[in-house]
Amino acid sequence: MTNRLPADRIIVPLDVANAAAAHRLIDQTPQVTFWKVGLELFVSSGPEILQYLKTQGKRIFLDLKFHDIPNTMAGACRAASQYGVDLLTVHATAGPDALKAAVKAAQAGAQAAQQSPPQIIAVTVLTSISNRSLALDLKIPLELSDYALQMALLSQQAGLAGSVCSPHEADLLRRCCGQDWLLICPGVRPTWSQTGDQKRVMTPSEALQAGADFLVIGRPITQSPDPSGAFQRICESLS
Ligand code: C5P
Repeated sequence: MTNRLPADRIIVPLDVANAAAAHRLIDQTPQVTFWKVGLELFVSSGPEILQYLKTQGKRIFLDLKFHDIPNTMAGACRAASQYGVDLLTVHATAGPDALKAAVKAAQAGAQAAQQSPPQIIAVTVLTSISNRSLALDLKIPLELSDYALQMALLSQQAGLAGSVCSPHEADLLRRCCGQDWLLICPGVRPTWSQTGDQKRVMTPSEALQAGADFLVIGRPITQSPDPSGAFQRICESLS
C-alpha cells in the first residue's frame, strides 16, 4: 500500500445532491483518481453515476453502509458488485452470517458481470455516536474504541478486507488487525482548512503515519473555490 502515489490514497466524497453537480465536480478535478459515492447521490441519481466514473477510468468507493439480514445483504452486495466498484461498505453489526454472505455474494456478482470483486469494508461504530450514547442509548457496556476494535475483528474473521475508522484509531487497529487490513480514514484536515463538524481530526500526513491506507477528504477540496488546486496542495504535502 505504501508504494501508492499520494494522489491515489486520497478518496474524495461526491457529497452533492444530484448527478449534474457530481459531473461538474469530477470534471473540475481531473487529478482525483478515487471517488466516494454515498447514499444521497446514489439515491438521487442511481447507478448512472457509477457508470460515468468507470468511463472516466476512476476508482469507486460505494459507501452505502448495508445493514440487513444475510439474504438481503447478499442480494444488495451482489447487485452493487456488477458495477465494478473497488470498495463497498457494510455495517459490522449486521453480524457474522450477514458479513460472510456479503463477501460471498460480492464475489459471485462481480464474477457474473466479469468485474473484479469489491473489497468489503466494515463500518464499526458511526462517528456520530459518542461514548455516552453508546452506553446510555445503545446499552453497549464497552469503551467506544474497544467496541470499534471488536467489530473490526469480527469483520476480519468474516472475511472482510478492512474498516472505516478515525485516524485516532488507526494505530490500534493496525496493530491488532495486521498489515493487510485496509484502514479507510475520514476526519482528515489539512492545517489550512476548516474542521467543520469533524471533531477529532488529523492532517493528511499524520493520518498516513498513524497507519491509514486511504484518506477520505471532502470539504477542504469540494468546498474550495479551487478544488483542483486544493487537491494538488494536499498531494504536495504528502510527497
Ligand atoms: O467533508 P469531510 O472531509 O468531512 O467528508 C468526510 C466524508 O466521510 C463524508 O462523506 C462523510 O459522510 C464520510 N464519513 C465520515 N465519518 C465516518 C464515515 C464516513 O466523515 N465515520
